[in-house]
Amino acid sequence: MEKLTKQLSIAAEKLSQAKQIVVLTGAGISAESGIPTFRDAQVGLWEKYDPAELASPTGFLNNPKLVWDWYEYRRDIVRKNSPNPAHYALAEMQNFLNLAVVTQNVDAYHSQAGSKKVLELHGRIMENRCFKEGKLLNDIELDYSSIPPRCSCGSFARPGVVWFGESLPSDTLEQAFSLARNCDVCLVIGTAGVVQPAASIPVYAKNSKAFLIEVNNQESALTYLMDVFLEGKAGEIVPKLMELIKSKNS
Ligand code: OAD
Repeated sequence: MEKLTKQLSIAAEKLSQAKQIVVLTGAGISAESGIPTFRDAQVGLWEKYDPAELASPTGFLNNPKLVWDWYEYRRDIVRKNSPNPAHYALAEMQNFLNLAVVTQNVDAYHSQAGSKKVLELHGRIMENRCFKEGKLLNDIELDYSSIPPRCSCGSFARPGVVWFGESLPSDTLEQAFSLARNCDVCLVIGTAGVVQPAASIPVYAKNSKAFLIEVNNQESALTYLMDVFLEGKAGEIVPKLMELIKSKNS
C-alpha cells in the first residue's frame, strides 16, 4: 500500500510537469462500467467467441446476421451502461494538463465523459458504415427490411469498428504516432498491449525519452517498458491521480 502511495505521488508529479501527455486506453478502463474486456480469463470476449468469425470481413460475409446480432448485443451493453470514474477523471485532467487520449475502445465513453481530445483508433460501435464503400450511414438511410440492414447502394451496413485484417483510420493513427513521438509522459491504462499498431504507441514514447506510467490490475505485455506501474483498478487509481494533480494546481 505504501509503495502504491509513493508511486502515485511520482506519477502525479511527472504528469503535472509534462508539456504533452498521451494516454493510451484499452478495454480495462471500461471494465468497471460493465463492458466486457477481450482477453481477461473467463470474462474476456475472446475467451468465449472466435474473433475470426465475429470480427473480420470474411467472418461477416460468411454469416452476416450472426455478426450483426453479436454487435447488437454488444451495443446494448454499451447503451445500458455509462462512463465510470476513470473516464471522468481523465476528462477532468484535460482542464489542468495538455493531455490527449488515444483509445482502442469503441464505446465512445471518453467523449461521453467530457474528454475533448480523443483519438479513437478502432472506431465506434454505435456507428454504421457501408460494407462496400465504407461511408458513414445515418439510421434513416438504412433499409431494415432484412438483417443486417442495407445501405441505399444495396450493400450491407456494418458496425463502424475496425476488424482484424483491416487498416486503422490513417489520419487518426498518424496523429496518435505523432503525439507519441512528441510527448514527455505516456500514461497507459487497462490494455493488454498485444494488439498492433496501438501497442507501439508506448514504445514510440519510450524511444522519445518519455516517462511511462501504467495503470492495470495486473502486469501487461507493456509493463517491462514502464517507469511506474500503478497496480489496481482504473476506476480507483485514475481518480486518485486526478486528486493529487488538482492539489498541486490549487
Ligand atoms: P484486453 O481485454 O486484451 O486487455 C484488457 C486489459 O485491461 C488487461 O491487461 C487487464 O489486466 C486490464 N484490466 C481489466 N480490468 C481492469 C480494471 N478494472 N482496471 C485496470 N485494468 C484492467 O483489451 P485491449 O488491450 O484493450 O480490438 O484489447 C485491444 C484490442 O483487442 C481491442 O481494442 C479489440 C480487441 O480485439 C478490436 O476490436 C479491433
